[in-house]
Parts: sequence; C-alpha cells; structure tokens
Amino acid sequence: MTTPAFSAPAALRSSPIRRLLAACQSPGVIQLGLGLPDPELYPTAALAQAAESVLRSGACLAYGASDGLPALRAWIAERMRTRGMRVAPEQVAITNGSQHALQVAMRLLAGPRRAVILEEPCYPGAWQAAEYAGLRAEAAPLSCAGAPDPERLAHLARVRGAIALWTMPTARNPTGATMTRATRATLSAACARNGLVVIEDDPYHELWYDRAPPPALAAEHPCAIHLGTFSKILAPGLRLGWMCLPTSYAAMARAALEASCLAPNHLAQRLVLAWLVGNDLDAHCAALRARYRARRDALIAAVREHCPLLDAGAPAPGGMFQWTRIRAGVSGAALAQAALARGVGVMPGGAFAVSGAPDGHLRLTFTCLRQARMRAGLRRLGAACADLAPAGRRRSLGGAA
Ligand SMILES: Cc1ncc(COP(=O)(O)O)c(C=O)c1O
Repeated sequence: MTTPAFSAPAALRSSPIRRLLAACQSPGVIQLGLGLPDPELYPTAALAQAAESVLRSGACLAYGASDGLPALRAWIAERMRTRGMRVAPEQVAITNGSQHALQVAMRLLAGPRRAVILEEPCYPGAWQAAEYAGLRAEAAPLSCAGAPDPERLAHLARVRGAIALWTMPTARNPTGATMTRATRATLSAACARNGLVVIEDDPYHELWYDRAPPPALAAEHPCAIHLGTFSKILAPGLRLGWMCLPTSYAAMARAALEASCLAPNHLAQRLVLAWLVGNDLDAHCAALRARYRARRDALIAAVREHCPLLDAGAPAPGGMFQWTRIRAGVSGAALAQAALARGVGVMPGGAFAVSGAPDGHLRLTFTCLRQARMRAGLRRLGAACADLAPAGRRRSLGGAA
C-alpha cells in the first residue's frame, strides 16, 4: 500500500522556536533566544513536597473532569480579578498549557473561508494554531500606537472573512511591549465594531518590571477568550494553562477539550493546586521579577559593550525578551546563522513575521541564564556581528570581537 498523501491542513510548518531549541542542545551552545524561565527559580522543593502529598491519595491518578479541576478553576477565576476580569469558575477551562488553549480557541472559531487576524510581529505558535485549526492567518502589523490599525481590522473583517483577532496586549512576544489602557480601549472598540472575537494571549502577565500592566483586554471586550499559563511563573514542564471564555462558549470548549485530550492532565492540576494552597504566589512572582529585571538591565549593558552593530533600545517593560534592532544592512536570519556558528543561539526577527515582513531584528532572551554566561553569549554574538558587518562599517562601529 502506498502512504496516503496528507490532506489539509497539509501546509503545517514546524516552529522556528522549537528548531532553535533543538540546535541549542549541542554541547557548548549558549542559548539567548528562547522564552524559558530560569530553572534555578523553579520552586522544585515545594513542588516535590506538594507532589508527595498529592500522590498519597490516588485521586490524582484517575481521569479528571473534561474542563479541569473545579477547585483550580475557582482559584483561577479569583486570580483573574487581579487582571481586572470578572469571570465565574464555569467560564474557566483548564488546558495542557496555553498553546493547547490557543489551539482549542482557534478550533472553536474555525469555519469555511474564515480567517484570524494575527498582530505582527507574532509568536509563531499563534500561526501554527491557526493553520492547525484550518483558519487562514491574516497579518495586522502594529501601528505606532502599539496596536493593529483599526482600519486594517475593519478591512480584514469586511473583505477577508476575519472573525477574530489574536493579540498580546501585555509583555508581547517578541517585543516585550505593553499596550496602554487607552490603546486597549481603542482596540477593543474597533474589534467590537467589526464583530471580531478577541483572543488575548497573556502568558507573561505577572512578569512586569517597571509598573503593573493595565487591566486585561478581556476586562473590556464583550467577546474575549483570555489565555493564561503556569509555564512562565512555575515551570513549563507542568504543561498547565487555562482559558476564560464567554459563558456561551463554555459548553463547546468542554467538548473541544474532550476531543483534543479527553481531560487536561489531572496530576499536574492537583500538584499545582496543592502548591498554590501551600505557598505564596505573589511573593514567588516578586522574586522572579527582581531577578529578571536585573538580568534585563545586564543584557542591555552587555549588548552596548559587545555588539555595536545592535541597538537594544528601551528596556522591555515585561516578559522575557529584548527586541533588538540590527543597525547595518544585515538580516536577522544571516546573523542568527553566524551566531550559531560562534556557539550562541538567537531568534531572528523574521521568525515572527506572518507575511514574510523584513527581518532587521533579533529577539534576545534575558531570563534563563546567569549574568556571566549571558555576557559570554553576547561576546560571541559580537564576534558573529563582526563576521558579517562590512569592513568599513566594522571600523566605524569600533570593532566587535
Ligand atoms: C505568546 C505565547 N503564547 C503561548 C505560549 C505557550 O505557552 P505554554 O507553555 O503555556 O503552552 C508561549 C510560550 O512561549 C508564548 O510565548
């Protein structure tokens, strides 16, 4: 028998982020491109203690409810008040990470000739989830106000079959930027006028460095699906996230969860709930913020010192990334390749384009490495810059070895 050809969605592309993760497994490579927490900040001992108590009862080893543990859903509903949202536990569904939530959200909205608008630059997992759900992805570049242009949204809704906008108002991946309250209000109104559901992806909400972000877009918008995760604040290996939905979507979300995974990981839910009950999440997040803020500042200083070809710009107000401009006519893709040859992994800006937009940036991560190793990585990146910069330019930049 010949192997049947794939039918749609045959054009599924693998994630450039996962490819970089694989490349960074080679011994000696310093990774400065991936959105990973510092493993030293995983609450390992307290999680081990919680695991022991949870495993003493066999309940965690049974299947759980399709949309998650009621007590955890209630905890999340309460926590969402800190994001300005008022949701009932029935509006919360637990997922195996927020990527899973993204996939379920896109699947709920999919239909013939429908499209989802992705703000650009865009986390590649968003276009992957759209492709997987069979939704066409339409790009909406960020305007200088830091949100997609309302006229572009109206055009895509009217002419291109767009029914939803995927957006990251808080601590964006890849730029780290956060929308102001006024910009959120304008964006919410534009989506409401054009009948667009908002998919608000909010994995970095707790990781702010200068001031707490404004209320979530979902606090304003009449039809929003808000996504969250424990990956960035506890540990990504837990694979535990959530979605908050309008009441009218909750039953469909439950059915979608059953179809995609039967029920989210029950053991991880019980474990995290036990950790949340026995520990202080706010104190934990404050410690993450203090560590990451110092590293962000150290990264910017090291870019200035070692990489004159790069402009790190203003400090990221939140998240894990510093969106860094390449000054000379060198593409992010070429620089990322040269960097890997020098033993450092960085993400080229073009990986975050939906529409193949030009690639004059790098996404640099500041969260997961100690400062000495981060500086060593930036020295290598400086050497890669020198490999690529034209000789005259190199002299005018004062060398970059
Ligand atoms: C914007 C965004 N959404 C979703 C995810 C997926 O996170 P999770 O580990 O919760 O699936 C990530 C991970 O980096 C992300 O950056």
